[in-house]
Amino acid sequence: MEKPRVFITRRLAVDPASVLGPGIHIDHHDADQAPPRAELLRRVHDSAALLPILADRVDAELLDAAPRLRIVANHAVGYDNVDVPACTARGIWVTNTPDVLTDATADLTLALILALTRRLREGERMVRGGAWSGWAPTQLLGAELGGKTLGILGYGRIGRAVARRAEGFGMRILFTSRGGGVPLEELLEESDVLSIHCPLTTATRHLFGPQQLLQMKRGAFLINTARGPIVDEAALVAALERGHLAGAALDVFEHEPKINPALLGRDDVVLLPHLGSATRETRRRMAEVALSQVELVLRGERPTHPVNDVSRK
Ligand code: DGY
Repeated sequence: MEKPRVFITRRLAVDPASVLGPGIHIDHHDADQAPPRAELLRRVHDSAALLPILADRVDAELLDAAPRLRIVANHAVGYDNVDVPACTARGIWVTNTPDVLTDATADLTLALILALTRRLREGERMVRGGAWSGWAPTQLLGAELGGKTLGILGYGRIGRAVARRAEGFGMRILFTSRGGGVPLEELLEESDVLSIHCPLTTATRHLFGPQQLLQMKRGAFLINTARGPIVDEAALVAALERGHLAGAALDVFEHEPKINPALLGRDDVVLLPHLGSATRETRRRMAEVALSQVELVLRGERPTHPVNDVSRK
């Protein structure tokens, strides 16, 4: 009997063969760049499983090209790149990689908060550029975290892990989430630092538009390690230009990997290439979780991290 095939769209932090059993045929695009779309559509034709990353659009066109697909094992906790209802309608499991990246993402969030509030970029540039002439009492003064309010939008695993860390810095925590917390208006008005940790959905796309950014406290900092399109970047640039916000730290972008040129020249922004989960430990665990979902489903078992339910189809 022919072995079921899995198509993996990127190089992973583990060798897929070390997780998948010998009963699965591995078709691996073992590179950091995406395969061209036409090649992806061709290579999924006989696949029973697909392991994409967050930049791979898994839509009706791709699903039509993959008539044997039984699982889309997304290599991410977020799954806004996957048309989940279309998968469910076709009886295809969709899985994600929760938990394993919570600490790495929360750590990076704190790194961004500190980089922004303590002006690390400017200081580093001054030193490297030979512009530092010595210690001075009023040089590159930043903002202290102790006693300030951290507003967290989205109080799931990552939001809560950020709160625990920020409490260690003496911050007061406010949060807004589907399940409770303060109303969004209060979060916007009260936060000295506001950090985004909600998923990208139709309800959260451009949630931070011109009006919400102006509702934020004057002199506040905005941090986004969730998904770029939650923030309207043009409106963010306008709020920074006007001096309404003191700064922003972005690990994610509206049109990734393209960066709004107006952000690039600004000293009051910190920009990172989507590094939230980028530790060796976490990326290994993400790959292992995603691969194990493939193994389970192709063995006829229920995945352990489903985001839809096709068990009764
Ligand atoms: C995710 O998992 O959703 C992150 O954005 C990438 O690790």
